[in-house]
Amino acid sequence: MQQLYDVFFASSNKNKYQEARAILAEFGIKLGFFNCKLLEIQSDSIRKIALHKVTDAFSQCKKPVIVEDDGLFIDSLSGFPGPFSSYVFKTIGNKGILQLVNTKRNANFQSVIAYCDKKQVALFDAKIKGKISKKTHGKGWGYDPIFIPHGQKMTYALLKNKNEISHRYLALRKFAMWFVRKQQSIYR
Ligand code: IMP
Repeated sequence: MQQLYDVFFASSNKNKYQEARAILAEFGIKLGFFNCKLLEIQSDSIRKIALHKVTDAFSQCKKPVIVEDDGLFIDSLSGFPGPFSSYVFKTIGNKGILQLVNTKRNANFQSVIAYCDKKQVALFDAKIKGKISKKTHGKGWGYDPIFIPHGQKMTYALLKNKNEISHRYLALRKFAMWFVRKQQSIYR
């Protein structure tokens, strides 16, 4: 019997999953949703956080699984909120970020995709440069209404092609190319 999913996405964030599913579908990878709460360590490295999360995810899911950890890094704030992006979003939100940023608005969004199955763990990371807008534009989730990727005039929230250029897309593309090759070598 053909299996329903190739790999699971462990998260409680449905927005991330929906974007990841659409992106991986372009590479022929069927992504299931494993809705769960994961242990998140405190660290200044989103790679370390992702690594920790994926081992926890695999111990719960027991199937090939990926997790994602992201951070919005603002240059003039020495990379803040970075690994604390989730907490900062929940506390001061986009309004608070806009109050902290003044003339220097350069920032970058980073994503780490971590994969785990019973034999191996692998990490794939990506970064997209951009700017923080002067006010919120659009109604997307998280920091979408305030992040303008480099080379674009609009925030993630207003871009129709976010999934073709985003930090998530760039990290998932690396993962997808690796995963497809791995599957091919198994079935060869
Ligand atoms: P975490 O990886 O779940 O810790 O996410 C870090 C923070 O960045 C969360 O507040 C997310 O909402 C936010 N975030 C991650 N990716 C995106 C995105 O593509 N758009 C907007 N916000 C994002």
